[in-house]
Amino acid sequence: MTFEPKTKIRSRVLGVGACLPGRIATNADLEKMVDTSDDWIVQRTGIRQRHLAGPGETTSTLATKAAERALAAAGVSADSIDLIVLATSTPDYTFPATATQVQAALGITQGVAFDIQAVCSGFVFAVATADKFLTSGSHKRALVIGAETFSRILDWEDRTTCVLFGDGAGAMVLDAVCDQSNTGVLGSRLRSDGRHRAKLFVDGGPSTTQTVGRLRMSGREVFKHAVGMVTDVMTDVFKDTGTRSEDLDWFVPHQANERIIDASAAKLGIPLSKIVKTVSMHGNTSAASIPLALCTAVNDGRIKRGDLVMIEAMGGGFTWGAALIRW
Ligand code: UT7
Repeated sequence: MTFEPKTKIRSRVLGVGACLPGRIATNADLEKMVDTSDDWIVQRTGIRQRHLAGPGETTSTLATKAAERALAAAGVSADSIDLIVLATSTPDYTFPATATQVQAALGITQGVAFDIQAVCSGFVFAVATADKFLTSGSHKRALVIGAETFSRILDWEDRTTCVLFGDGAGAMVLDAVCDQSNTGVLGSRLRSDGRHRAKLFVDGGPSTTQTVGRLRMSGREVFKHAVGMVTDVMTDVFKDTGTRSEDLDWFVPHQANERIIDASAAKLGIPLSKIVKTVSMHGNTSAASIPLALCTAVNDGRIKRGDLVMIEAMGGGFTWGAALIRW
């Protein structure tokens, strides 16, 4: 008796979408608010401007627009979605999950929607989680979203943090496909280590202060760990998938700081020409930064079907992770 080889289910990317608030704050605008300078911000981070949510714009409204655009790019309807995984640290409310508000706004009544909280690593965690659901056969089509309004948790008098972050949302449609073509999410690695909490945290919450709190960060301390952590998980993903950094077409890192991005790429021998960078335009949008960068590079024609794309991020917790996608 012969057995047919079992066809593997893969999570394939059907489309991406993004939404940025209309209001832009340049470094010059921030010079009027805190003791900083365009020179300092550009030299230390690469950031030139960031988008800030206005009245009526929330994490769920930005996420819903990004999701609608991803569905349109994918050419599929909202009612074909049976899984929404939304990464955010700035939910509209403590509960219910922002994902369920997006689900309702899109008119989706089937399946399941939930949030993931891994701060800046949130989108990588959401992709890895959705991939596990889809490849298990339990769900068929997912919306994976990273959406944030960090401007609402910044201390606008603290120049060491308020110049770094921005608002936005990005979304991706992942489809469960049975084929041998080796496309879709090829591998992922997620990590966390709660001992690093005090280096990057929000100083409030329902169970402690009954307030939302404000973001606090020892930037230099975070910087020290970032390059090592993200290059370790990328190396693990290369090993898991039998690929090498030379095989990459595009490196799409979390957009926190251009120096971290360049140092991580250099450590793995990834040339500058293969890095997608949007940090100058968006600032650090936490869980939204990777899908915003992916959307930019898909829309301008850089990322094409068949390309090998590495995403990675590191953030509060600490959390960190990487995922390799054959587009
Ligand atoms: O996405 C989640 C993960 N987060 C990150 O990846 C952020 C990681 N960290 C960083 O990106 C960098 O550490 C920062 C951009 C936050 C800071 O850059 P740095 O080169 O590490 O600067 P620093 O914190 O060592 O500060 C250098 C100086 C200090 O002054 P003194 O003590 O040398 O006199 C700061 O007070 O720069 C001063 N400074 C500023 N000056 C002008 C800090 N913030 C500002 C500012 N404008 N906005």
